[in-house]
Amino acid sequence: MNAEQILAQVAEEVRSCQRCPLHRARRKAVPGEGPADAEIMFIGEAPGFHENVQGRPFVGAAGQFLDELLHSIGLRREEVYITNVVKCRPPGNRDPEPEELAACEPYLDRQIKAIRPKVIVTLGRFSMAKFIRNAKISQIHGKPVKVRGQLVVPMYHPAAALHQPSLRRVVEADFARLPDIIRQAAEIPESVEEIAEEKPSKDKPQQLSLF
Ligand code: URA
Ligand code: SF4
Repeated sequence: MNAEQILAQVAEEVRSCQRCPLHRARRKAVPGEGPADAEIMFIGEAPGFHENVQGRPFVGAAGQFLDELLHSIGLRREEVYITNVVKCRPPGNRDPEPEELAACEPYLDRQIKAIRPKVIVTLGRFSMAKFIRNAKISQIHGKPVKVRGQLVVPMYHPAAALHQPSLRRVVEADFARLPDIIRQAAEIPESVEEIAEEKPSKDKPQQLSLF
């Protein structure tokens, strides 16, 4: 199967999935969308009200802001892959439970493996936690991190920025750095230790390699 076929297969499984209790209250599961050869992948938290109705990721207010952020760096939604750590809406938009995150994780892993994006942008703490443990978003937002060979850029969730005007500029500034990070991504060698030696980072969290 090629990447496109794998994504279609995952989407089909997600739409009828009953692996966790979230399937009971959902209207439409939201597998994610975007080209199979996307260079950049955005991973949010979970579908909200509108996503649950439409079966598409980031189509509500946070999605509109995400669209604006993409436009600000010359990208269109059609050029990136957008998904969530949890594919069905938690009732009342509550936080996803650890068992729900665990049940849903294989779908996301298969999507990442199929797409092999140059850069993964995590939106919010739940998707950040998949790659980076014990990190504070306030300290590492916007900084590219290489985790098990994968370049990850943690960002605040667009919904948080909508509710907190001061975060809006922070998210906009982090986005503005993305094109450089994407350009840089291809040239970054796999060995993170080498990079860390060349460019030591003062505030480097222990298990991370920042550059
Ligand atoms: N918030 C998310 O985290 N994901 C969506 O798809 C929509 C809103
Ligand atoms: Fe399946 Fe994920 Fe939906 Fe749970 S959230 S039912 S694991 S697709």
